[in-house]
Amino acid sequence: MAKKKFPARWNVDFLTAFLLVAFCAAGPVVHAQTEDQAWLRYALVHERPTIPTSVRALGSSNLEQSAVQELERGIAGLTDPKGANTGETVVGTLDEVRAAFPSPAVPAHIAAHGFWLKRTIWHGRPLVIVAGSNEHGALFGAFDLLRRIATGADVAHLDVIEAPAMPIRWVDEWDNASGTIERGYDGRSIFFDGGKVRDDLSEATAYARLLASVGINGCNVNNVNNAAPFLEPDMIKGLARIADAMRPWGVRLAISVDIASPQKVGGLKTFDPLDPEVKAWWTARINEIYQQIPDFAGFTVKADSEGQPGPASYGRSPADAANVLANALAPHGGVVLYRAFVYNNHLDYNNMKADRARAAYDTFHPLDGQFAPNVIVQIKYGPIDFQAEEPVSPLFAGLHKTSEAIELEITQEYLGQQRHLVYLAPLWKEKLDFDLRAENRATPVKEIIEEKTFNRPLGGMIGVSCVGRDDWLGAPMAMANLYAFGRLAWNPNLSAEQIAAEWTKQTISNNPHVVATVDKMLMQSWPTYVDYTGFLGTQTLTDITGSHYGPNIEASERNGWGQWHRDDAKGIGMDRSVATGTGFAGQYPPEVAKIYESAATTPDNLLLFFHHVPWTFKLHTGKTVIQYVYDSHYKGAEEAARLGDEWATLKGKIDPQLFEDERARLEYQAGHAIVWRDAIVQYFFKETGIPDALDRAGHFPGRLEAEDARLAGYKIIDITPWEDASGGRIVACDPNPAQGSCSAEWTYSGKAGRFDIAVQYFDLPGGVAHFTFGINGIEIVSWAADARLPSRRPNGDNSTRFTLRGPDGRGIDLKPGDVLRLEGAPDGSDPAALDYIEIELAK
Ligand code: GCU
Repeated sequence: MAKKKFPARWNVDFLTAFLLVAFCAAGPVVHAQTEDQAWLRYALVHERPTIPTSVRALGSSNLEQSAVQELERGIAGLTDPKGANTGETVVGTLDEVRAAFPSPAVPAHIAAHGFWLKRTIWHGRPLVIVAGSNEHGALFGAFDLLRRIATGADVAHLDVIEAPAMPIRWVDEWDNASGTIERGYDGRSIFFDGGKVRDDLSEATAYARLLASVGINGCNVNNVNNAAPFLEPDMIKGLARIADAMRPWGVRLAISVDIASPQKVGGLKTFDPLDPEVKAWWTARINEIYQQIPDFAGFTVKADSEGQPGPASYGRSPADAANVLANALAPHGGVVLYRAFVYNNHLDYNNMKADRARAAYDTFHPLDGQFAPNVIVQIKYGPIDFQAEEPVSPLFAGLHKTSEAIELEITQEYLGQQRHLVYLAPLWKEKLDFDLRAENRATPVKEIIEEKTFNRPLGGMIGVSCVGRDDWLGAPMAMANLYAFGRLAWNPNLSAEQIAAEWTKQTISNNPHVVATVDKMLMQSWPTYVDYTGFLGTQTLTDITGSHYGPNIEASERNGWGQWHRDDAKGIGMDRSVATGTGFAGQYPPEVAKIYESAATTPDNLLLFFHHVPWTFKLHTGKTVIQYVYDSHYKGAEEAARLGDEWATLKGKIDPQLFEDERARLEYQAGHAIVWRDAIVQYFFKETGIPDALDRAGHFPGRLEAEDARLAGYKIIDITPWEDASGGRIVACDPNPAQGSCSAEWTYSGKAGRFDIAVQYFDLPGGVAHFTFGINGIEIVSWAADARLPSRRPNGDNSTRFTLRGPDGRGIDLKPGDVLRLEGAPDGSDPAALDYIEIELAK
């Protein structure tokens, strides 16, 4: 995989105070994340156990061969070679083990894809048995054995049986035939390019290995939008090559299909699912797929949603459409994942009863019992759309006669897009463990999708992953989310902490300080992100019609998308109660509905999702809503900075490249958390006029605004949304300034002392602007604005902080009368725009 740098060096240690001109065009070079540099590096153990190095497959299946290959690789890297050349490690199915070894007693039955790991003595020599209920189980068992060794578990007395909690454990990739990836943040597709399947599919194989190592057994390779071309005959041939590439690791291929394909691809006059010609078309196309891909896993369907065509065009239901596909797939063992993400995106904001959150339940609950047995309704974890905070979808409890899968998002679309460290397992666990109290009994979501609760044949977990060619998810720490997804799909009872520790030990280090520090950072990261973004159930408060990244509070208001939070000078929140609101709360089973019905009993973190309350409404803590907004955002930004402080303690204890790469990312994140904090705080402070009890809102004692500086070449402009810049205004340089650059100058008038100086600027695409900062005519530092951030205009997506911390990070001496000068050289469409500089006492 190609090497990539991220981001520009944000923080400069001065080599010689006031003399160094550091030009930071080249950022730290980072590992490309091959699968071996993710969690399969097999090198970081503390104490090496002995495991027989001679590995043998008892059967001849390809999956057993893969298991042998993996065990040889892992055992070589992880175990003590001394004394290990005696004995044997064998891989096979339960039947094969039973036939080969009369003792020990082999378990009579293990559920599909499960395994038995056993260590024993055979003819006086050690014997390690990896036995699967089938070949897949044997492969999963091999990976599990290696995970145990890599994480320091006891492998001297192995006798373990495991089986996956649910049959469907898939990742969805949203790759387009062109090679772009919807909501992908790390380069182009590993599968497609230029409208075709790529010639080189080695990354698809590597990805399948990574997926198999955590028990994932299916991969849907194409975007739920723009799916029609994937049923063209030539594309099916290419898809067969992808299936071949992933098959050695037991990962079955699935694709997203467009319900209008009979018309768009087949040239029929209609795509009415109940039309006989349409049914015949689907059957023929599905048969053709199976001729080329005998183990094809099935289809994912997004229909009647966000512009995708669907059965509603003909007055047909999702069940009608799903069943036509399901009936044609059934003889081959394929399934349909029909997405419950069906809603009207032209809702009327002025209609107080309109509510997007209701849509999935309103559409699918009445259809319960009408779906074919091989249809699984795929439900996003919340009723809206992968928000940083929203309640569990009530639909999980609304389908008793239908198989269900939960849809999670591994790619961090609304959660910092991999530029922010956000470990998602705690969020997912909160949803999986949530007890919906269906039929007034314990019915946690995880048991519903395991299909224990309503006793359905299928069920599962789908993770929208969107890996790309540069280095999978684009950030080494984000890989903890892919890992966690697989582990939870295998066993949703694992804790987020346990998974974090496993991942860290395999990926970063087994050193107890490192493990404890990284795990603490991971566990803290989601609450931190929630603290500095949306609050109390308002959802993420990002630009929902554009980037889904930086702050943009009004983007979710007054449009048809229904992600409303309905704020005004008096109050905020959506009334979703049954008594006075949209009635959404009533979609939950009675015990839960009762909790959400009243503001007094709704948990604080979801208050504004369910209720419209005045800004002075008191939370359970006694704090008012508006004071909570101020406090949580200051706290969130501090916590984000603390993530960097914690990481700093790992210096010298972990791979130096990883250390530097993540240090730079966390520095960026801490800066962007301040952008979020200030946007939210100043917006609601202005709207409500209610002062902050701690007097922070609207006051930035150390801040020198660019628009107040002595400017040369720079022009003052308003930005949109206004809350994304300090005071709503910034300066931007002329495209071709007379001196080659523009400048802003301030005379320092505060007390003498040592300070950190932060420069808040906008790093736009379309050019690499350069900045130079100096004091009293002496240049101190230069840097390039070369990060890859969204939006072509200066706003909260690309507002970026560069902090100068002086020699050895101890600050910069300033005295009254010092002249601070910032020069910005524009480049292309990047106008070297500037918001402010901020002078803070050095830490
Ligand atoms: C989100 C996302 C879209 C995606 C959609 C979906 O809205 O922003 O890119 O298509 O979810 O899940 O279908």
